[in-house]
Amino acid sequence: MNPSKAKERITQLREEIRRYNYLYYVKSQPEISDAAYDNLMRELVELEKQFPELLSADSPTQRVGAPPAQEFQTVEHTAPMLSLDSCLTAEEIAAFDKRVKKLLGADNAEYVVEPKLDGLSVEVIYENGRFVRGATRGDGYQGEDVSLNLKTIKSIPLVLRKKGVLPRLLAVRGEVMMSLQGFEKLNQQLAQNNKPLFANPRNAASGSMRQLDSSITASRPLDIFFYDILAYEGGAEFKTHWEILHALPEWGLKVNPQLEKCQQIEQAIAFHHQLEKERDTLDYEIDGVVVKLNNLAAREKLGAKSRSPRWAAAYKFAPRQGETIVEDIIVQVGRTGALTPVARLRPVEVGGVTISRATLHNIDYINNLGVKIGDRVKVERAGDVIPAVVEVDKKERSGAQRDFKMPDTCPVCGSGLTKDGAYLKCDAGISCPAQLKESIKHYASKQAMDIDGLGSKIVNKLVDEKIIRSVADLYALTKEQLISLEGFAEKSAQNILQAIAASKQCSLSRFIYALGIKNVGRHLADVLARQFDSIGHLEAATLDGLLQIKEVGPEVAQSVVDFFANQRNRDLIQALLQQGINVAREEIQTQSVLKGKRFVFTGALTKFSRSQAQSLVESIGGRATSSVSQTTDYVVAGENVGSKLTEAQRLGVKVISEDEFFNLLQGDISPKGDIS
Ligand code: IVH
Repeated sequence: MNPSKAKERITQLREEIRRYNYLYYVKSQPEISDAAYDNLMRELVELEKQFPELLSADSPTQRVGAPPAQEFQTVEHTAPMLSLDSCLTAEEIAAFDKRVKKLLGADNAEYVVEPKLDGLSVEVIYENGRFVRGATRGDGYQGEDVSLNLKTIKSIPLVLRKKGVLPRLLAVRGEVMMSLQGFEKLNQQLAQNNKPLFANPRNAASGSMRQLDSSITASRPLDIFFYDILAYEGGAEFKTHWEILHALPEWGLKVNPQLEKCQQIEQAIAFHHQLEKERDTLDYEIDGVVVKLNNLAAREKLGAKSRSPRWAAAYKFAPRQGETIVEDIIVQVGRTGALTPVARLRPVEVGGVTISRATLHNIDYINNLGVKIGDRVKVERAGDVIPAVVEVDKKERSGAQRDFKMPDTCPVCGSGLTKDGAYLKCDAGISCPAQLKESIKHYASKQAMDIDGLGSKIVNKLVDEKIIRSVADLYALTKEQLISLEGFAEKSAQNILQAIAASKQCSLSRFIYALGIKNVGRHLADVLARQFDSIGHLEAATLDGLLQIKEVGPEVAQSVVDFFANQRNRDLIQALLQQGINVAREEIQTQSVLKGKRFVFTGALTKFSRSQAQSLVESIGGRATSSVSQTTDYVVAGENVGSKLTEAQRLGVKVISEDEFFNLLQGDISPKGDIS
């Protein structure tokens, strides 16, 4: 290829890749397969290698690759990055509103409310639409130049999308976030590699951004939401914050979808309460809402104090941190045999939930914290992640505190232990009662075989009484055996047996998930089930075969191969099939016109349980997700719906009732169904 042809092709490839990046990372609406994307990227890398003079810093290939830095440079912000005054009660936020109106000399003030995102605040600067620099907040005036690290975050465009005029200068402020799922996975990986763990997603996001080696940052699951403009020159004028929040996405800058315009402070208070209720369903941490005056001229009039503006306030949620005493440290054995030290706490209320246990992850985490039995500690919970001990108050020590030591043998079955990364694992597999109990609980759980009524207490008893020695024994349970357990009535025994029997008819994806293959969560189980039409075919899959599947990476592929290489696992599957488990082929789904459609359920459903509704969606090849975005096809609204409905309306997503959902499925299932 001659240089001028190469230049042309490179420009074309960069534009295409930028567009696909935007669709994938900002809109969550991919248009091409991963493989096709990889091909474009490979072609671009190859051409840039052949014609190094055509390389440019904003090429999509330049997101990683710089050598590790010695230190970060300190840089001045384009405008001070202020912080926010905090309110903790409705009265305080109402007082803020009163103050604002008084200063404006007005009876009314219009606000925009947004979630207060719990991550790391950064400035990102674009000149003529090109990423030039980004920095951490630092002291608000100067921060650290973390440009290389920011460039590894795929949802940060290196080149802005052209909507109208591109400003000469655009400095935006946003919050770098790590999802809860990403955080848990990262901690698992760190533990495997004997590295220190992060106490919470915020520290994980912040620690990842402050890596001197940007290839480490690139490997971390980071995302960003933008929420403010710090400096702006040479573009169309904005009159309101609302306009800004709608202009940013047009440039390809991601904005959190939960926004509301409020004419009255009561509406902002209601938004706060609603979001606090939904807080646990989000996959990222928020710690309150931010109430901002919408009109920019009015903001100007109010101005700022030394560190915070008068026109905005944070209205925080009840804190999810509490202080208490570690009464003891016990060791739990999980489904995979990993030993987890757990702090037994003097019960403490944390954000409306009483906590009496918190994880200490592993012995390295204990040593890094320096925690002893009897210490006063801070505990924190993020979403539905297991609460963790995050800090020790060493000043409170009386001398009565005791060191903790990990046991030399399995505390449950006495078997030997093997070191696996930072974890110790019991060698006994499901002959260890703890591993057996946890495997059965996982197998019966809602997302897996959904065996109603088979809760933790019963499973513990069944295993302790040696009535059950394998998951497959569930299917041989008799009413007499159940009734023999303390506190069991005939009716409840009957119900459980029925639920167990009903679980024999199940979808392949649930069955795969129920087996508890390492790294295979609900979504990947779905992916595998669509690819292989029977458990036998999955069992026969090779590493290479698995790697061909979009969404399956080397880690997952290896876990699947390892799982089936283990004779004990193959025997268990055989035993289950012999008990009459009938795994439905996922093929039927391909007929469905609802295949691939994304559903979000909100409010209380009356006809189905959440889990039933979700499995119905799966059974037709659709996906049930928890938050509304542009990729959502249907929002199914039950009773007492909240902000998800508002969000759906804002995005123009179709909202249907529970009845309409049911009809949709009926139509879809019957051959004459007519869905358009
Ligand atoms: S606006 C002058 N909006 O909260 C206005 N801040 O305590 C400045 N934050 O350091 C901030 N979500 O990192 C704003 N939607 C949001 C936010 C947000 C999170 C953080 C920000 C700031 C801290 C203030």
